[in-house]
Amino acid sequence: MIRAFIALTFIAAATLHAQLPGSPTIDFKKHVQPIFAKHCYDCHSVGKKKEKAGFVFDDVKRLANDVGPGRIIVPKDLEQSDLIPIVMGANGKKMMPPEGKDPLSSKEIETLKTWIEEGANLPGIDIAAKMAATKRPKVKTPMNWTNKEGKAIKATFEGMEGEFVLLRTENGQLYKYPLSNLNMAGQFQAKMQAEQ
Ligand code: HEC
Repeated sequence: MIRAFIALTFIAAATLHAQLPGSPTIDFKKHVQPIFAKHCYDCHSVGKKKEKAGFVFDDVKRLANDVGPGRIIVPKDLEQSDLIPIVMGANGKKMMPPEGKDPLSSKEIETLKTWIEEGANLPGIDIAAKMAATKRPKVKTPMNWTNKEGKAIKATFEGMEGEFVLLRTENGQLYKYPLSNLNMAGQFQAKMQAEQ
């Protein structure tokens, strides 16, 4: 009887503890969005019609496409989240914002890190469903991709995002390339890869 009681108290305590960590300390709109607005919108914004490399940071629905396995933001996984080395210019990544612009302060970088560690919450987006739905290609071999102008690049296929193909070039940069700008063989290749 006593033993059962102790066991029960223990379970109750454990359950309580599991609930305690509670709500995230970082709020996207209040803490994260202003950082993107200050440092990124100049070149990555729907509002300003600037979509360098296909990335925008002022449209939450589109930003949500950058969240998930193999994307630049992997919730609760700082190691896999390229966004951090990108804003630090670390791991051989081209630094964002590029040279000549004010880099992020260490406090701003910490805010982004905490936001990712807490699950990269976005208003109105079900991140858990997003994580489950994002397919990550298993085999990643660099392939040749040619666009309609006949320009070719070598890149790994990282997934599809609506009408965009996610391609990573050999220097580690990710591009969202409009599927319709690839030549026929390229479009076919992308569709085949997406089905794997
Ligand atoms: C002055 C313009 C400019 C600003 C400001 C800027 N970027 Fe970029 N960004 C670019 C350009 C240009 C590219 C395409 C890469 C290239 O060819 O140099 C790019 C590419 C990227 C990429 C994809 C390439 C990669 O490294 O995987 C990401 C992600 C990115 N930027 C994120 C950001 C973030 C986050 C910010 C703000 C902290 C930012 N950028 C601010 C111009 C800018």
